[in-house]
Order: sequence, then structure tokens, then C-alpha cells
Amino acid sequence: PALDTLLNLDDIEAAATSQVSKKCWAYYYSASDDLFSKSLNNHAYRSILLRPRVFVDVTRADTSTTLLGHRLSTPLYVSPAAMARLAHPDGEAGIARGISRFGAMQLVSHNASMTPEQIVADAAPGQIFGWQLYVQTNRAKSETMLARIARMPEHYKCIVLTLDAPVPSKREDDERAGFETRLVVESAKPTGDAQPAAAKKPDTNSGVGKQLFFGTAADLTWETTLPWLAKHTTLPIVLKGIQTHEDAYLAARYARQHPGTIRAVILSNHGGRSLDTSPPAVHTLLEIRKYCPEVFDTIEVWVDGGVKRGTDIVKALCLGAKAVGVGRAALWGLGAGGWKGVERTFEILQGEIETCMKMMGAKDLSELGPRFINTSIVERD
Ligand code: FNR
Repeated sequence: PALDTLLNLDDIEAAATSQVSKKCWAYYYSASDDLFSKSLNNHAYRSILLRPRVFVDVTRADTSTTLLGHRLSTPLYVSPAAMARLAHPDGEAGIARGISRFGAMQLVSHNASMTPEQIVADAAPGQIFGWQLYVQTNRAKSETMLARIARMPEHYKCIVLTLDAPVPSKREDDERAGFETRLVVESAKPTGDAQPAAAKKPDTNSGVGKQLFFGTAADLTWETTLPWLAKHTTLPIVLKGIQTHEDAYLAARYARQHPGTIRAVILSNHGGRSLDTSPPAVHTLLEIRKYCPEVFDTIEVWVDGGVKRGTDIVKALCLGAKAVGVGRAALWGLGAGGWKGVERTFEILQGEIETCMKMMGAKDLSELGPRFINTSIVERD
């Protein structure tokens, strides 16, 4: 279908589903166990109602913001998601091209299907990225990658340390689809070898997720991992996969005690792909507001998971998120039409954000806050 006939993210996903391989669909679509967290991620936004105000001049709505001190024209960013070339040869570089006119940040997966150098090679001037790290059992491999990222300071502005997947989960759609086709993608794994990810693991019957997991460390701790990481990067650290107010509090405390390390957390349950029945980011946002609101003043709080509409994004911002990420949406955009499909996806979301703000009587992001939100349906003691 022509991209301009796709009007929302469900249309984009349906178009991509009809075009990508079965294997690709199974890997992107899948989540853990019963997909409960995956569906709740989106449903949680639906449980929150907006409180629009009227009689406000909303001729314009300004969505510009700053992330980690960088000026951006939208609070929307691309979450790190592996293997974009499964969907389309444009891959991660196509995502960069697709978002280039929106002023959004792109987080690049440790398991990207192109190297970090290839991804930024044709990026628009001023396009900023973060690089996501799965710490490897062989720490030297991670250190080599961090050194490579450090050589591209004009593009890579943060290291995203993912914490919510210390062991592989059960993604049954992915496993059922098996590993029947060799991935024709270059691996950006820390060796930097351009070798198919399939060569990483001999078991050819497991899903892509398990194949990619090979080599990931399970022994990360506050005490050991952060000092190690700070020794090997000077970039701001973003902790991804925080799911409780306790861990958000510890991150903010660490940031206060060790300036120049943690600058942001991403509240995320990995798109429901790690621990099933773990909470949607919105619930964690509400917890932090209730038990340790000072976190919002100490570090930036970003969220991802289940975003389908501009209203979802605006709700998260009203509850204190500084930025909102999309994972599958960018991949489905790619599957629906390469870089142009990503552009269409961002056009839809950006348009919906602006419409929502105007309908609510908010002229810029600084005006957003809990006064626009009715959370009584989700709030519990
Ligand atoms: C992911 N995600 C992810 N996260 C991460 O830190 N490193 C990774 O390599 C990946 N890989 C990955 C692959 C695919 C196919 C998906 C769908 C997701 C999780 C991702 O960053 C993000 O947390 C979720 O995708 C957000 O949920 P939505 O937007 O997909 O609902």
C-alpha cells in the first residue's frame, strides 16, 4: 500500500507484517511467555484519561526539548532494537534517514545489523545517537566497542546500559519460527567481525533472541559494573530497564554521588520481551511520583513500551517523562517501506503529539504536567 494511505501505527504494522519474512515477523512481534506485559504496556495508556483545557491560543504547539543537554525538536526517540535489516536492507541507517527531519534521537542496539560506523556514515548533520551496551562475559569485547564509539563523539552522545535482560526469556513465537534462514546481516557484535549472527551459536533451532544473547553477562551489579563502565567511557550513562521506584531511587542516588556517570534512566520492560507480568513504564512513573519524586530533579527519566498514539506520548510526558521511545514502531515502519516507512511512522506520531497538545491547551512541553491527567483508574495504594 502507498505509505500515505497508512494512517496510524496499526496500519504500519499490518503493512509491514504482509511484507516481511515470517522469521522477521516472529522476532519483532514476539514477547515473553503470554505477552501479558506487551499488551498491558499499551493498555496502561488507555487507562489514563486526559483533562483538556479550553480557551487557550493553540495556533502553534512547540514540541522541542533537551535531552542530556542536546536540543531536539521532539521528545520522541528510537529505542534500541536489534536486527533492523531483517525487515529491510535500509536497516539502522534507514531508521536514521527516516527520522532525520524530526530532530529525534536514535538509540542503536548492541545487536544492530550494521556496525555503529555504518549507521552514522550518512546521517544528517546534527543527528544524534546513543549506543546500547549488553555487557559481555568477555569484558575486553565490550571495552573494544566502547573505544570504537568514543571515536565518533559528534554522533554518539550516550551509552545505554540495558539491565532488564540478564538471561534470555521465553519468546515462543520467535522459537517456533526457529532459525530456518541464515541472517544475511553483518553483525555489530563487539568483535566487530562482519560475520552472520548465525555463526555465533551452534544451536540452529532456537529463536533469534537466544542466538543474539550468546555471550551476554549475567553478573552486573551497582558496585562493580558502573565503576568499570565509567573507566571505559566518558559519555553520559543511561540505565535501561528500570522497573521499580527503588531502582530509580538507587540510580538517582548513584548519580548524585558520582557526577558525570548516570544521567538518565529508561523505565522499560523491554517491550514485554523480558520478564512477563513486569510493569508498564507508566506504572513505574506513578510509583516514582509517589515515593521518590526527587528522582525527576536529579536525572532524566525516559520511558518506552506500548506507544501507539501521540496521546500515549503526551500522557507519559505529563507524568514526568522527559522523552518517550518507540521500538517496534520504527521496525514496522522499516518493514512497511524502508526509510520512507520510518519517516511516515514519525510523521504520524509527531502529528498526533501536536494535535493532542493543541486539543489539551498546551503550547509547549514545559506546560505539560499532572493537571492534564486523570490517573484514578490506574492508581492504587
Ligand atoms: C528490542 N529491545 C531491545 N532493547 C535493548 O536494550 N537492546 C536490544 O538489542 C533490543 N532489541 C530489541 C529487538 C526487538 C525486535 C524489539 C521489538 C525490542 C527493546 C526496545 O529497546 C524497547 O524497550 C521496546 O521495543 C519498547 O517497546 P515497543 O515500543 O516495542 O512496544
